[in-house]
Amino acid sequence: NWSMDSFIDRAIAEIRAQVGDKRVLMALSGGVDSSVTAALLHRAIGDRLTCVFVDHGLLRLGEAEQVMEMFAGVFQMDIRKIDARDRFFALLRGVTDPEVKRKRIGTEFVRVFDETARDLGEYAFLGQGTLYTDVIESGTKTAATIKSHHNVGGLPKDMRFQLIEPLRSLFKDEARALGEQLGLPHAFVWRQPFPGPGLAIRVIGEVTPERVDILQKADAIVREEVINNGLEQEVWQYFAVLTDTRSVGVMGDERTYFATVAIRAVTSRDGMTAEFAQIPYHVLAIMSNRICNEVPGVNRVVYDVTSKPPATIEWE
Ligand code: XMP
Repeated sequence: NWSMDSFIDRAIAEIRAQVGDKRVLMALSGGVDSSVTAALLHRAIGDRLTCVFVDHGLLRLGEAEQVMEMFAGVFQMDIRKIDARDRFFALLRGVTDPEVKRKRIGTEFVRVFDETARDLGEYAFLGQGTLYTDVIESGTKTAATIKSHHNVGGLPKDMRFQLIEPLRSLFKDEARALGEQLGLPHAFVWRQPFPGPGLAIRVIGEVTPERVDILQKADAIVREEVINNGLEQEVWQYFAVLTDTRSVGVMGDERTYFATVAIRAVTSRDGMTAEFAQIPYHVLAIMSNRICNEVPGVNRVVYDVTSKPPATIEWE
């Protein structure tokens, strides 16, 4: 792709001119924007980029491992994984309010990153995955905030660092194409949106390691079956929610009183409005059977048939 190649050449020249012989620090969330930014910065300045990956324990099944495998393994980047799972779960203990979950996760993320940054020493620059749409949105702030959408990757402006934001002129699709050009896997850069607070807002009620574990397993089945059945092009977002409802069931001769999992799948252009996806019943049946059979602690699966509005895409 000629125009993307020339963008890369220009961006690399600009990054090198801006950074000189200094070093850049960056928080990698595992999301597309920060990943593409890291890949571009790495192409430009190599080992003078250090990435910090804060593992809060709220990513999807296997995702933290995939991020490390890709950046440390394939790209050979200097990436430091910080296992902060206990800290995040401690802060979420007893919390059920969605906005409190978001705030605590956002604040703790900044705190962990900040502590790590201080330990790492001198960095002149902070890399960020800001896109053109982020630039516009923070300029206008017109959209009514139903949910506080602070991205976990987003850090407050810090006087210690100069910001470096090489994707500032790009739209999301251009950032994805750039990522692919830089060698990130196709399925990774084109994957569905994932909220910054991660699975914490898909575990309704209290977030515990055990409940996140249940959700991760159920969610992996939903994603697998969407892909197995060739639906990932049609459906915009698809995932499982662990509800706070328990219900009576029967397995073998035993009465159970287990959790209810909801499947959420929507079609949408931009997430502002959405319709529930008309997933074929036989696919829902496979998901339901597999979840009840393979995920201990779940005995009922329901399908969310609500559009946005009046519902939102996420349950919290
Ligand atoms: P809702 O649930 O508001 O979601 O219909 C619209 C889109 O935004 C995502 N979403 C979030 N993304 N931080 C994020 O980075 C958040 O707190 C958050 N809440 C919702 C949601 O996944 C959907 O794509």
